[in-house]
Amino acid sequence: MTSTRVQAADLVLPMFVKEGIADPAPVSSMPGVVQHTLDSLRKAAVEAVEAGVGGVLLFGVPAAKDARGSQADAADGIVNRALESLRAELGDATVLVADLCLCEYTDHGHCGILSGGSVANDETLARYAAVAVAQAAAGAHVVAPSGMMDGQVGAIRSGLDEAGFAEIPILAYSAKYASCFYGPFREAAEGAPQFGDREGYQQDPSRSVEEALREVALDLAEGADFVMVKPALAYLDVIRALRAAVDVPVAAYQVSGEYAMIEAAAAQGWLDRRRAVLETLTAIRRAGADVVLTYWAAEAAGWLAASR
Ligand code: PBG
Repeated sequence: MTSTRVQAADLVLPMFVKEGIADPAPVSSMPGVVQHTLDSLRKAAVEAVEAGVGGVLLFGVPAAKDARGSQADAADGIVNRALESLRAELGDATVLVADLCLCEYTDHGHCGILSGGSVANDETLARYAAVAVAQAAAGAHVVAPSGMMDGQVGAIRSGLDEAGFAEIPILAYSAKYASCFYGPFREAAEGAPQFGDREGYQQDPSRSVEEALREVALDLAEGADFVMVKPALAYLDVIRALRAAVDVPVAAYQVSGEYAMIEAAAAQGWLDRRRAVLETLTAIRRAGADVVLTYWAAEAAGWLAASR
């Protein structure tokens, strides 16, 4: 009989770092999650690594935003300074993953460059390649494009290769649905679209699993090294299908709304928080995810170590 075991090393902790704040700022819709200062980020990342997590995923929130998201690839931009500091502190003791998107950096909150009121795919690709190179130069071990433009993996792969970063892998958010479960994240990353929505570039939840598999095949053909499904809990069928279809590691992102849902119910005394968290992580692993990105990563790693 085989059973699923979640291990600390399977878990990746998403973290937010914000420019221009003196103290960590709590995210009200995600109790327990904060926007870090550079200093608190370093401490929390070290603690997470000591607890045994397999990696951290970094999001930056710049003080100033503009139409092209300049701070995403500015060498002194908050996310790149944070990557540098974490790489200096942790070296190769963990996997530093940089989320690669523009929505936290643009004043309009969309994931790309706008032209005529909508996102211009190809101009955005050039920006993504530049951001990937800046993140790799700052110390990211892996870049994770989450913006969902067509051809983004290929454009980023060529950009990295040309800049001498051929060894930096790409974690593609291949099956990313236009989900309401990203709601709390938009407070944490301050990247809510100022008009419209992301349905033009994220997948419709009602589409078939086969369609997700086609997206994944495209990303793999463009050079993705790992693929991701997002959100996780409502998409276990997609995780299962991907695991069966591809040879590369499959990651699943237990997103902000999944976190908020359990935290809110637990705060009311309606759910046993720890059991609920571990049960969902187990289910996501059982469905086939090799890696789970979760805001509970550090805490769950501690529980898993204690129960061994
Ligand atoms: C940015 C991005 C989002 C998330 C990760 N990267 C938001 C979105 O696509 O709207 C969501 C993560 C979460 O909800 O925890 N493209």
